[in-house]
Amino acid sequence: MIHKDFISKPYTGQLEETEFGWQSPSNIALVKYWGKKEIQIPANPSISFTLDNCHTKTKVQVGPKVKSEKEFSFEVLLDGKPKEAFAPKIETFFKRVQPYLPFVDQYHFKIQTTNSFPHSSGIASSASGMSALALCFMSMEKTLLPDMNQEYFFKKASFLARLGSGSASRSTQGPLMVFGEHQDIPESSNLYGVKYQGEVHDNFNNYQDTVLLVDVGEKKVSSSVGHDLVNGHPFASARFEQANKNLSELLQIIKQGDLEAFVKVVESEALVLHAIMMSSQPYYLLLRPNTLRIIEKVWEYRANTNSNLCFTLDAGANVHLLYPEAEKQEVLQFIRNELVVYCKNEQYICDQIGFGAKKL
Ligand code: PMV
Repeated sequence: MIHKDFISKPYTGQLEETEFGWQSPSNIALVKYWGKKEIQIPANPSISFTLDNCHTKTKVQVGPKVKSEKEFSFEVLLDGKPKEAFAPKIETFFKRVQPYLPFVDQYHFKIQTTNSFPHSSGIASSASGMSALALCFMSMEKTLLPDMNQEYFFKKASFLARLGSGSASRSTQGPLMVFGEHQDIPESSNLYGVKYQGEVHDNFNNYQDTVLLVDVGEKKVSSSVGHDLVNGHPFASARFEQANKNLSELLQIIKQGDLEAFVKVVESEALVLHAIMMSSQPYYLLLRPNTLRIIEKVWEYRANTNSNLCFTLDAGANVHLLYPEAEKQEVLQFIRNELVVYCKNEQYICDQIGFGAKKL
């Protein structure tokens, strides 16, 4: 599908319901999206596990537009309190989605959102938040176009979520989502995320993700600045080629259930993401001393046991520990005994693979 397939047909229904709600999960990339063209068109394809417990719940109340000079009329509340800091990002989102959702400048929208994970935990809420908001808008559009089928609904929801944040395009469904065109995945697209339909070995059923909170608070360098620094980066084209190759390899690994090979690709992807940051111009560093201590402990643990525990990283200092459900008891014991000391206020979040967004 191309851009113009997402321009709405003439509306046949009415926006009668006044409240629309969705719960959307966060996700963790295995092959990372880092570097983009235009508006969130990825420079390379990525694949992620959809999470379950880490999610955003968003309710949008639609009302008559408040008379004002402003093109878009909305208010945002986080945990029931007005959150002015979110307004610029949401205003940009409205501007970007308007060509595809012509009703967004016709009403007032009261957006109420809450995250299941602690605020300022360093866990990015943009993927789950933008996905939940995009899904609410799609529920509105569905009442205006009642014949819309479910496949189109989710494609367009992901397309809109992408306009808010690239990784948000991978938060609509699950358990594995692909964003960006890749030769081995015929349905993949640079415009939206798709559910990975290939074979997945049982070893990955209920795969666990325990997020160790190393550093809480605002990131020193935002993801959008980071993506921009990939343009003109001396290693950029080699990195894009590597990501394509890693994705091909990972698809085989996922099919065969080869956990040892999974560890190698996933950890390498995490470290390359940060290597690109460290070698950008200007260079920067989001890893903290405790991130490195955790990584070394994970390697030591693996060397001393038969474990398939591995780590991955987002654009921040927190560490995601990925492991099979069968190892849950041992790994949680290891975390409690040896890793919590490296977590800010001993905080960590236990999560696992999830199946995507839910209508509220
Ligand atoms: O969605 P953005 O623009 O915040 O980019 C996120 C990029 C990473 O989280 C670092 C990697 C990824 O693929 O999710």
